[in-house]
Amino acid sequence: MNNRPIGIFDSGVGGITVLSEIEKILPYEDIVYFGDTARVPYGNKSQSTIRKFSVENILFLLDKKVKMVIVACNTASSLAMDYLKKTFNVYITGVIEPGVQKALIVSRSSVIGVVGTRSTIASASYEKEIAKYNPGALVYSKSCPLFVPLVEEGLLTGKITQEVIEMYLQDFKRKRVDSLILGCTHYPLLKQEISRYLQDTFIVDSAKEVALHTKQFLTKNNFLNKKKRKGKKDFYVTDEPTQFIKLAKLFLKRTIARPEVINV
Ligand code: DGL
Repeated sequence: MNNRPIGIFDSGVGGITVLSEIEKILPYEDIVYFGDTARVPYGNKSQSTIRKFSVENILFLLDKKVKMVIVACNTASSLAMDYLKKTFNVYITGVIEPGVQKALIVSRSSVIGVVGTRSTIASASYEKEIAKYNPGALVYSKSCPLFVPLVEEGLLTGKITQEVIEMYLQDFKRKRVDSLILGCTHYPLLKQEISRYLQDTFIVDSAKEVALHTKQFLTKNNFLNKKKRKGKKDFYVTDEPTQFIKLAKLFLKRTIARPEVINV
């Protein structure tokens, strides 16, 4: 079990934010990354479609003999998690729970903000998870559909990005949220500008939190990779990989090995 890879899937390239956090704290782990680039975006698709895609993605990862699965995509975590946990025997973690746990720890006023794709916000997944632990918390959420294209165009700073951030996040400022959960794979790349705009707000990066959760899980179950050498990263995508390779470089700040294309 130990020396098997960790499986990660996302709707596309965004889940690389999760891979990047994992390799920082679990450098010896091998990772199989599956990006469903032919069917991205998931952020405006229905629950039945997202469940179906997620099942297919996990079946692919299981074929690669992964020891656990990380659903890096917030939309899939929001709309398919319960279903996936019931369907598969392998340990599966999404990004919602780890992000929420962190927000609950850092929030003093229990006024928490959440940003994500349209489907994530419409599912109220974060509100429901927060309410399990703190039913009195005030949760404000907002979909920010322009954030993904901004990141994918490499517009991580600058005037346009600042204006879009202000347009989406001004309500959070008014409502004095003291912590804001970045509930989408791409948003950690905008963290610097978001923190600049919401200066007094703690920004919760779900990618970082799921990486910490993964480390805890592997340690507790004695599943850490025993080979003390840099982990191998294998990438699989479902569409021609040129754009994926380009964006992966932006997300990881290094070049990745050419992904293998899988037909879906
Ligand atoms: N990966 C998606 C998420 O975290 C963002 C991109 C998409 O809409 O597929 O919600």
